[in-house]
Amino acid sequence: MTTVRVSLGERSYDVVIEGGLLARAGAVLQPLSRGRRMAIVADANVAPHLATLQASLDAEGVASKAIVLPPGEATKSWAQLEALCNRLIELGVERGDHVIALGGGVIGDLVGFACSIVKRGCGFVQVPTTLLAQVDSSVGGKTAINTAAGKNLIGAFHQPALVLIDPEVLDTLPARDLRAGYAEVVKYGLIDDPAFFAWCEEHAAALLAGDAEARAYAIRHSVAAKARIVGADERETTGTRALLNLGHTFGHALEAEAGFSTRLLHGEGVAAGTALAYRFSAVQGLAPQVDADRVTAHMLAVGLPHGLASAGIDTDGATLVAHMLHDKKMDAGTLPFLLTRGIGQTYLDRTVDLADVRSFLDAERGR
Ligand SMILES: NC(=O)c1ccc[n+]([C@@H]2O[C@H](COP(=O)([O-])OP(=O)(O)OC[C@H]3O[C@@H](n4cnc5c(N)ncnc54)[C@H](O)[C@@H]3O)[C@@H](O)[C@H]2O)c1
Ligand SMILES: [Zn+2]
Repeated sequence: MTTVRVSLGERSYDVVIEGGLLARAGAVLQPLSRGRRMAIVADANVAPHLATLQASLDAEGVASKAIVLPPGEATKSWAQLEALCNRLIELGVERGDHVIALGGGVIGDLVGFACSIVKRGCGFVQVPTTLLAQVDSSVGGKTAINTAAGKNLIGAFHQPALVLIDPEVLDTLPARDLRAGYAEVVKYGLIDDPAFFAWCEEHAAALLAGDAEARAYAIRHSVAAKARIVGADERETTGTRALLNLGHTFGHALEAEAGFSTRLLHGEGVAAGTALAYRFSAVQGLAPQVDADRVTAHMLAVGLPHGLASAGIDTDGATLVAHMLHDKKMDAGTLPFLLTRGIGQTYLDRTVDLADVRSFLDAERGR
């Protein structure tokens, strides 16, 4: 068992990582139950894992009530938020209770946000079931829903009280979702950890084929990196946490062009966006071309998109930059970009000329 501490003063919490943890989760959760019934929110695709979790709570004498929502990004909506909040109130959730979010980033983001506002904030526990959620979204307290104007525009910072990660639940995750989640793993190497990127180059194939040891190492290493970054900059005010958005400005533009649909999953957009950020940095003379080539080759090797064409996007730079300008990450009217000086040397650049981005993307079209 590995425990990673997220150090945030009185909001500190543990991330517990262990194969088979779900079947033993009842014992870990029992003290948080305060002798009361616990609400679990899941999506329909994690039903087998919900049964395991409820059985382990039962075994500890903890009653639970499951709320099962439809799978998919569309669940992060005002309508589902309203329904969920009403349901939690109906169930008698109190401020001192802990609601359990069992699922991927969609369930984690929605439940976390609901728990930030129900009774002016109740407790919650993240039990992430996708690779993306295990290595990224379940840790750090960013919660949100989407609106007609864009993704994650309405939300709150609300830290969980505990995160329970059982890598074995990934056995049922579709290969495409596993690969998409991997983009957020390799991101930690490309931000500031060249040794981890080298590890990824060597072990990604095994990880994606289901090798338990490689998977567990990648999760532990990624969670430790995320915990360190969040501990240093909880609310993304100093620029440290913004590093986690590597590949996301380019990636979101591609996702927007694909209509935020299953045509291009978030992690797939991030993979292509990361390769684009490295190539743009090389074109601008900031990073060695060999490093950009190495990142591109890695995305290709693991079967992730590495540019516009492989992401299924065929449009001009002006259209993509227009999507970027819609992004919530505008700061005092400028668009900060995460660029790089090489592998593991990502930095926030506030001086990027959007005309350069447009012509770079025009040149990338068809690649
Ligand atoms: N809060 C953050 O810091 C943060 C960070 C990154 C991404 N996100 C958000 O996360 C969301 C994406 O998360 P995601 O990729 O986990 O998507 P998701 O929650 O939609 O899960 C992907 C698919 O896998 C299914 N699934 C989940 N676990 C499964 C399992 N163990 N076995 C079989 N099927 C399973 C889901 O039902 C869904 O169909 C986006 O909304 C994104 O904005 C949030
Ligand atoms: Zn992401």
